Amino acid sequence: MNAPDSVAILEVENLAYSYGARRAVDGLSFEVRRGECFGFLGPNGAGKTTALSCIIGLLEGWSGVLRFDGVERRPGRDPALRARIGYVPQELALYEELSARENLAFFGRIQGLEGAELAGAVDRSLAIAGLGDRARDRVEGFSGGMKRRLNLAAAELHSPELLLLDEPTAGVDPQSRNHLFEALSTLLAEGRTLIYTTHYMEEAERLCDRVLILNDGRAAACGTHQELAAQAGVPDADLERVFLELTGRSLRDEAA
Ligand SMILES: Nc1ncnc2c1ncn2[C@@H]1O[C@H](COP(=O)(O)OP(=O)(O)OP(=O)(O)O)[C@@H](O)[C@H]1O
Ligand SMILES: [Mg+2]
Repeated sequence: MNAPDSVAILEVENLAYSYGARRAVDGLSFEVRRGECFGFLGPNGAGKTTALSCIIGLLEGWSGVLRFDGVERRPGRDPALRARIGYVPQELALYEELSARENLAFFGRIQGLEGAELAGAVDRSLAIAGLGDRARDRVEGFSGGMKRRLNLAAAELHSPELLLLDEPTAGVDPQSRNHLFEALSTLLAEGRTLIYTTHYMEEAERLCDRVLILNDGRAAACGTHQELAAQAGVPDADLERVFLELTGRSLRDEAA
């Protein structure tokens, strides 16, 4: 755990977004403090990816207020803001036929890096992802864990202050997961802020300072593990039990 200060880097007020008639995010409010690891948890279909997509600017047409570092987010593309936020998408976004280094160089150029600055950022990110010795290999030969690590490297290449991570450890083995954890701990120690989405409650318990539990597009609860346990009426329970108390035990088997 690090020591986040109390200044909000991101403020979300009454965020709402609908896909046609389907309301995916429904009046969501929370704030993330600079330097913290903020867990963003919820069952399948709760609206996590949708909310993150609104924050990063992949989805337009949302309502509510998004404030980054005290400045209200304008609708439409906002390159200045994008330079300060990184996004690790839930689906891998890599070019299989390119090497790890070529992938990172490509994403770095999109972020406006070039020359020695780009080369330095690529080397640093490869090291953080533990892929320094595989830099020249094509991604198509990588394991799932290596691809996830490269996905993280691509998102943090431009040293963003805030990193949104949408299930960065989905389907990876314990070794890669451990490496990803170490990489995220390094970023936190550097003072970066993380929003961390996962279905693995023990990960959130280990990494996150505070968590928000999203259910049906709304915040069911937000606070430290201990605060949520008290709120759910199960003090001393682990986060998995707290999560089930706050979101119910019914299955969320809608079609994706
Ligand atoms: N492109 C889309 N078109 C229509 N509906 C969508 C689309 N993407 C998501 N939805 C719906 O919006 C709701 C929220 O989905 P979202 O992907 O944000 O949830 P999530 O919390 O990220 O779920 P998961 O844990 O499965 O990743 C769900 O009901 C989903 O079916
Ligand atoms: Mg999702």
